[in-house]
Amino acid sequence: MSLSVRRVGPSSAATVHALIQEAFGSRPPLDPPADALSDTVEAIATRLALSGGLLAKLDGEPVGTLLLEPVGDGVYIRRFCVVSAARGTGVAQAMVQAATEAARGTSWLRIVAREELPRTIAFWARRGFVQTDRRSPYVEMVRPVPSFHEVPTPEAMRALGAEVAEELQPGDLVLLTGELGAGKTTFTQGLGAALGVEGRITSPTFIIAREHAAGGDGPELVHVDAYRLGSAAELDDLDLDAALEEAVTVVEWGEGKAEGLAESRMQVRITRTPGASDTGAGSGAEGAEELEPRTVEITRLGPRWARYGHAEPTGRLTVEPAD
Ligand SMILES: Nc1ncnc2c1ncn2[C@@H]1O[C@H](COP(=O)(O)OP(=O)(O)OP(=O)(O)O)[C@@H](O)[C@H]1O
Ligand SMILES: [Mg+2]
Repeated sequence: MSLSVRRVGPSSAATVHALIQEAFGSRPPLDPPADALSDTVEAIATRLALSGGLLAKLDGEPVGTLLLEPVGDGVYIRRFCVVSAARGTGVAQAMVQAATEAARGTSWLRIVAREELPRTIAFWARRGFVQTDRRSPYVEMVRPVPSFHEVPTPEAMRALGAEVAEELQPGDLVLLTGELGAGKTTFTQGLGAALGVEGRITSPTFIIAREHAAGGDGPELVHVDAYRLGSAAELDDLDLDAALEEAVTVVEWGEGKAEGLAESRMQVRITRTPGASDTGAGSGAEGAEELEPRTVEITRLGPRWARYGHAEPTGRLTVEPAD
């Protein structure tokens, strides 16, 4: 089964229109009816010419689509749909992923859902969309677009940690992911230094959680390494709850275990930059640190970060159509 999602412009208007009619037409009728049902091919072509859309194909067959509508410093996803025959195949997930990539460099993605469709609302909520506005029967939900940072050296990684520390406050949760030696602890060192906390930040090998007292007015830092923890239940046993309120909590290897610690979280994903690994490694130059660039993806999820820019129409296009 091969799944592809690509950018499309007005030349795909007929296909996109047919998908929207099929998918929205098969939903239970709503009052007032979905705007999508009164779309014409011409209207879709006009919208695709303005800022494009996405078309998902499963084994070459068009199965899902959406329109991209840049507004202000973000992008609205409109007419998001998957035909009934292709539901449950991961198409919707791939389309959200592709929309996030299309929106790179902007601040947020927004959708408008119908409150009569709680499963649709739950779908977006699982993907980090938070309700920001409700004008019955419409519910608006927003998610920040991740920021990407190229991090060439360990020093740059500490600097990024320090930059992130500037926006943190007591009670915040930061989850770090990335393979062994990716730079999670290095990032935390920069973060802790900028917070001004006491004690040396190291990879806690035997100690699972370490509390660093506040150095001044700032918050304390709870640094957790969940690598050895099997489950969320084991993390729960550490009884961190009391500290969480007053501290900034950073959890290495926290994905899949630590999400429940707070309602909102900053997710920091560190990966080795593809194709860059052999540029400097093993050069052996004296005193020179091995050059192992990393890419860091930061996503701010949940209500704590939900003030994502303004949705005032500007007509400014930030997403170019692909064809
Ligand atoms: N661009 C870079 N960013 C961060 N670290 C780098 C970079 N290039 C090289 N390094 C080196 O990679 C190592 C990262 O180690 P660190 O302990 O921070 O990783 P970690 O993700 O915490 O690992 P673990 O999963 O074992 O806890 C350090 O030795 C650091 O000097
Ligand atoms: Mg570490």
